[in-house]
Amino acid sequence: MTETITIRRPDDWHLHLRDGAMMEAVLPYTARQFARAIVMPNLAPPVTTAAAAAAYRERILAALPEGMDFTPLMTAYLTDDTDPDDLAAGFEQGIWVAAKLYPAGATTNSASGVTDIRNIDRVVERMEKIGMPFLAHGEVTHDEVDIFDREARFIEEVAIPLLKRHEGLKFVFEHITTRDAAQFVEAGDARIAATVTPQHLQINRNAIFKGGINPHAYCLPVAKREEHRLAVRKAATGGSGKFFLGTDSAPHARSAKESACGCAGIFNAPFALEAYAEVFEEEGVLGRLEAFASLDGPRLYGMAPNEATVTLEKVETRVPGTIDGGTEPVVPYRAGGTMGWRLKA
Ligand code: DOR
Ligand code: ZN
Repeated sequence: MTETITIRRPDDWHLHLRDGAMMEAVLPYTARQFARAIVMPNLAPPVTTAAAAAAYRERILAALPEGMDFTPLMTAYLTDDTDPDDLAAGFEQGIWVAAKLYPAGATTNSASGVTDIRNIDRVVERMEKIGMPFLAHGEVTHDEVDIFDREARFIEEVAIPLLKRHEGLKFVFEHITTRDAAQFVEAGDARIAATVTPQHLQINRNAIFKGGINPHAYCLPVAKREEHRLAVRKAATGGSGKFFLGTDSAPHARSAKESACGCAGIFNAPFALEAYAEVFEEEGVLGRLEAFASLDGPRLYGMAPNEATVTLEKVETRVPGTIDGGTEPVVPYRAGGTMGWRLKA
């Protein structure tokens, strides 16, 4: 008999859906698996107003294929000029559920991000007061800091002082990649959590350079040394309840990845849940997959877990070499390989 596992339907607490033709092409891959997703606001131009977020949400819902059940959870893109009253009004109206910190220059479409965390003190103070989660791209951006050290430096320079100044702030350290971040989150109180991507559980930095430059293994924060991958894996599968599913699926057209200055981002949406299942199985803790994928995220966000369930079967599944990205093909995570699990339709 085929081994199966049934869990409550999961959510993706960190997702790049893009817009237009690409959004229409990639959305079904997420909606197939996840009931809800935190939609990142780094469009060009970024989603900085509640009106823009509401319009983006409408475009997503309009693109959802008939019969698919999926709720986009919108986020605000913080800038040096974010107005605390506007942000709070959008939250109170239920338009956005969280706000995202992109340190200026940290990653794709982050040029309008925050140049100094102290510039948004009043905004953070308001978020703390109204219980609005603060989602951090946790990297410093100074050119002189080694790219592999940027997450660890963010903890010292930004996260620790910020959380000391705002002792009630709900804080999600997005897509953690280091032992430092795992330990920091583990040691924090219940308001501090982290999302973990499939790739940071499965690849280390060798993947980017194996046999030549592999742009499809390049994302930000960049994959780190093996010891960091192992620490993140231990944290994510350890059952603490502080680490939950956030794919950071970030599609770019193949030509934008396979170029002299390739974009950061890994498109893992097609088989994300299958990849996480592999990790939990390899660690011998498949029984903890449900909490990671379906319970611990809603708890941090103060939402109820989904009532529906999904079933994964232990069946080898081929990952296509490319996927239609609307106007151009997109190369998915583990393109051309196989997954050890398959989500039952
Ligand atoms: O690799 C990444 N891609 N990291 C991010 O933080 C942004 C994302 C994107 O939007 O492409
Ligand atoms: Zn992201």
